[in-house]
Amino acid sequence: MIIALAGYMGSGKSRIAKLLSTATGFPLLDLDKEIVQRENASIAEIFQAKGELYFRRLERQILEQIVNSSQDTVLSLGGGTPAYFDNISLIKSTTRSFYLQASVPTLVSRLLKQKAKRPLIANVLDEDLPEFVAKHLFERLPYYAQCEFIITTDGKKPEDITSEIIQLLDL
Ligand code: S3P
Repeated sequence: MIIALAGYMGSGKSRIAKLLSTATGFPLLDLDKEIVQRENASIAEIFQAKGELYFRRLERQILEQIVNSSQDTVLSLGGGTPAYFDNISLIKSTTRSFYLQASVPTLVSRLLKQKAKRPLIANVLDEDLPEFVAKHLFERLPYYAQCEFIITTDGKKPEDITSEIIQLLDL
C-alpha cells in the first residue's frame, strides 16, 4: 500500500509522513527529496536553472516510478504535485491519499519562517503572503479535494493526525 500525503506548502506533510513511516514500518519517500537527489541540486536551484516546467515534468516522472512500484510506502508529495498534468488521477488510482488541510493563517505563520527554500514564495513580500497563499490554495483546492480523505489539521498534534490516518486505513 502507498499512503500519499498531499497538501499546501507548510501543511505538515513531511512531519506527518515521518511519524506515519515510524508507526507503520513503511519506508518513507519524499518526492521533493527524490527530485533533489536525482538532480543533485536543491529545489530552488532547479527552478532557477531549468524553470518550473522542467521541475514539473521531473516530478511527474518520479511520481510515476514510485506509484508503479507496488511496495508499501509512505509518500510525501510536493505541495503542487496534485495540481499538474493528471497527477491527481494517478495518485487516486494507485495510492490511499490524504489531503492535510490547514488554514491560511496556519500556513502563513509556518511559511514566513521558511520562504527562502521555496521558490514559489521566495519573492513574495511578507505582508503579501496571506493573500498569495489564500488565492493559490483556492486554485489548488479542486485537486486537493479529490484525495480519498481530507484531514483537518489546525489545532491537532502531529501524533493525533498520524493516529487518525492509521485508523482510517484500518491498519
Ligand atoms: C511546491 C511545493 C514544494 C516543492 C516546490 C513546489 C508547490 O514542496 O515541491 O517548491 O508548488 O507548492 P513542499 O510542499 O514540500 O514545500
